[in-house]
Amino acid sequence: MKQIIIGMLLSLSALSYANNPLIQNAISRKSFSLNGHWNYIIDMYETGYYNYRLEPHDNTENPGSSAFFLNQKPKSKQDRVEYNFDSAPTLLVPGDWNSQKENLLYYEGTIWYKKSFDVENYDRAKRYFLHFGAVNYRADVYLNGKKLGTHKGGFTPFNFEMTHLLKDKNNFVIVKVDNKRAADEVPTLNTDWWNYGGITRDVTVLEVSSTFIEDYSLQLDKENNKLLNGFIRLNGDAKAFSKVNVSIPELKLTKDFTADANGFVKFQIPVKKMDYWSDLNPKLYEVVFSSINDQVTDAIGFRQIKTLGGDILLNGKKIFLKGISIHEENVMRGGRAYSMEDATILLGWAKELGCNYVRLAHYPHNENMVRLADKMGILVWEENPVYWTIQWENLETYSKAEQQLKEVISRDKNRASVIIWSMANETPQSEERLSFLTKLAKTTREMDNTRLISAALEDHGKKENSNIMIVEDKFADVVDVLSFNQYYGWYGGDIDNIKNIRWEIDINKPVIISEFGAGALQGFHADNLTVWSEEHQELLYQETLPTLAKIPNLVGITPWILTDFRSPRRTLIPYQNGYNRKGLISETGNRKKAFYTLQKFYQQIQK
Ligand code: GCU
Repeated sequence: MKQIIIGMLLSLSALSYANNPLIQNAISRKSFSLNGHWNYIIDMYETGYYNYRLEPHDNTENPGSSAFFLNQKPKSKQDRVEYNFDSAPTLLVPGDWNSQKENLLYYEGTIWYKKSFDVENYDRAKRYFLHFGAVNYRADVYLNGKKLGTHKGGFTPFNFEMTHLLKDKNNFVIVKVDNKRAADEVPTLNTDWWNYGGITRDVTVLEVSSTFIEDYSLQLDKENNKLLNGFIRLNGDAKAFSKVNVSIPELKLTKDFTADANGFVKFQIPVKKMDYWSDLNPKLYEVVFSSINDQVTDAIGFRQIKTLGGDILLNGKKIFLKGISIHEENVMRGGRAYSMEDATILLGWAKELGCNYVRLAHYPHNENMVRLADKMGILVWEENPVYWTIQWENLETYSKAEQQLKEVISRDKNRASVIIWSMANETPQSEERLSFLTKLAKTTREMDNTRLISAALEDHGKKENSNIMIVEDKFADVVDVLSFNQYYGWYGGDIDNIKNIRWEIDINKPVIISEFGAGALQGFHADNLTVWSEEHQELLYQETLPTLAKIPNLVGITPWILTDFRSPRRTLIPYQNGYNRKGLISETGNRKKAFYTLQKFYQQIQK
């Protein structure tokens, strides 16, 4: 009976998701932005959501006057309304609340956001969607006092149709944002990054035709580089058997197709000659997807990525992934990164290091990062926030993980730069965990068979000889690329002994070292055995890089990490002060000595 109830609950939550499929390439649709100042109310006790019996207001026909989503105003001088958004302070959207207000730095809980807006050139014949780049963690979204829907997951986009509730003037959207952590969520209670809360990415009103192009994909076939595979999905009353077209003007290529009864068509397009996307030649083609009443233009690169034994082949050629791990933080401004400017800083630093690859850890970063990586020719590892000890046996937890994975794959499936989907990071081994991750990998392969699957696993020393490191993990049989984090010389092992370490890997797959590193306070100098000194971090890189280079099948590394980043787990004064100090660049943008050690190593590989 419990399983049935959970099953029903799952389908209910899937329902609100299914009813609002993610609109592909929202940023190039006809739209206007709701970014800017939003009024906010801190609501620690969720007074605006529950009545004093803790019954949710939005489950009732006539929610009480204390339901904040009604944005109620006193009707007379006797009318008692105990909240008022218009006299409330404001927060900037996009942006986390923690870095905007000192009293919110450590705040975890509910904050209500309100934005009023008119719709210029409101058109009754059109449909309107409210699109969020991301909200951390749970978002309950209301328009003009009515519920649009709920979304969970702090790092992926979602949208709700609001055509039925929208007016030309005096609209108000209210979002209840709750970033409280919980054991059954994804990620779970403990992480080594700051739990930034808020409407952390762009909010946009999309205007589309009554029948529009909801989703599409166009990728180079994994085996045949003279063939494009794709699909178009229409949404709307006139979707059945509707005519659609795909054209690539630069290739003088245009193809007509007819959708099926559900407005869906899968197709293949042979191509004679084209310029393949790569890190050395990030060629993007303008592609136009058209239907009777809609047209969407995208910039898409075409490349093949696959493994062959212990190699990764990009367009048939072996490639070494000179990488760096990155958290989604503009550490100098403080807070979550979200803009193209932020992406330009972060990927610019990666390029300066000599990188052709980045690991976006431990969750999907904003779309600007992957679109800029497309342009800059930087290959990308994207990760689902299944981090450390998730509730593996909890079906609801699984559906939350799967939903976030589906959302990032849906958003970035047309990005040439994205080559690896990572299922998880440093997860403890068990049968439940293995089946959880294996199911996620299966879902990923069903959605996208053009990319590689991996996860950041862990290694350990052999009982009989601790200088021999091994990875014993059944999930290694499921992935395409064997990746693991190794912290020899920092979390165990003597830094002087790094040179004597070697890995025994009995699986013929490409190997990526997804993390290694050491903490250092920028500007603190000492002898190279003194931890937290720049010299110690530099020594660890100097010892580790040549040792890793001996690993057979090593095809890439993503040292931990590009910049220092905020973490509630890092309390050591004076060295950490709330920051994980394994960055090669400090929170003031200063490069540490190890930055140049890695830069030199990548220059050598270049040759
Ligand atoms: C782990 C983990 C990171 C963490 C890092 C560290 O491997 O994946 O999220 O920040 O180690 O301890 O610095």
